[in-house]
Amino acid sequence: MSSLDELRYDWEQLAEQDALWAILTDATKSGGKWDLAEFMATGKAEIATVMSYLSRINCRPDRKGTVLDFGCGVGRVTQALAPEFAACVGLDISEQMIEKATALNQFRNCRYVASSESRLPFEDESFAFIYSNIVLQHVPTQFAAEYLGEFVRTLAPGGVLVFGVQDNLTVLSSLLKRARKLIQLRSRIKRALGRSVTNMQMYCLPEPLVRTALGNSTIVDIQYTNTGAKDYNGNLTYLPRPRLTGYSGRQYCVVKPR
Ligand SMILES: C[S@@+](CC[C@H](N)C(=O)[O-])C[C@H]1O[C@@H](n2cnc3c(N)ncnc32)[C@H](O)[C@@H]1O
Repeated sequence: MSSLDELRYDWEQLAEQDALWAILTDATKSGGKWDLAEFMATGKAEIATVMSYLSRINCRPDRKGTVLDFGCGVGRVTQALAPEFAACVGLDISEQMIEKATALNQFRNCRYVASSESRLPFEDESFAFIYSNIVLQHVPTQFAAEYLGEFVRTLAPGGVLVFGVQDNLTVLSSLLKRARKLIQLRSRIKRALGRSVTNMQMYCLPEPLVRTALGNSTIVDIQYTNTGAKDYNGNLTYLPRPRLTGYSGRQYCVVKPR
C-alpha cells in the first residue's frame, strides 16, 4: 500500500468506528457521545473566529467565489463556510466521511468529493478561498508539502489560503512520541494480520518546508494556535507564543499573487 492508501485505510476505519470523535478527540466524547448539534456548533464558532481574524488583518477572500474545505470530515466546518460563499466544496480522503458529510448537508451550494490522490481533482484557479484545519498534521510530510503546492495551483489569483499545521514537537514530547511509535508498530502488525486498528498519525511541517512548498505566494500572516492540544475540541484560539509542551500549532494565511 502507498502512504496515501494507508492513510485512507486508517481514516475509513476511524470514520466507521466513531467519526465525530475521530475529528474532535475529546476524551469524554468517545464511544458516540458527541452531541451532533454541539459538534456542528464548534465549526460555526471556528469559522467566525477565522473570518473575524481575516477582517482584522485586512485579508478578505472574495465571497462571490468558491471555497474549498480540504479534509472536511463530516462537514463540521464546511457547513459553516457554505453560507459565506457563492459555492462550497468539501474534500476528504475517506469515502465514509464524505457519505456522512453529504447526509448532513444543509446547503444547495455545497457539495462533497472523496479523493485520495495527491493531485486535487480541480482545475487551476478554481477557488477564492481554501481552508484546511487539523488535517495536514495527519498527512506524511512529503504529501502535505505536495498538497500545499496543489492549494496554490487551484487558488484563483488574489485568492486566500488559510491552513493549520503542527510546526514541531517539544523535546520532552518527542521522547513520549518514541514510546508511542512502538504502539503504532503494534497497530501496523495488527493491520497486517487483518485486524481493526485506530491509527491517527501525527506529522510536523516546519516553516522552511512550508515556504518552499508555497513558492511565490505571499505568507501574509502566521499565528500560533492551540490546535495541537489534546483538549482542542474545535475551540480555535490564537496564542501569543508557541505552546511549551506537545505539538506547536501554526495557522498560515497566504495570498496568491494576481
Ligand atoms: C481531524 S479530522 C478534521 C476534519 C475537519 N477538517 C474538521 O476540522 O472538522 C481530519 C480529516 O482529514 C481527512 N484527511 C486525512 N488525510 C487526508 C488527505 N490526504 N486528503 C484529504 N483528507 C484527508 C480525514 O479523513 C479526516 O476527515
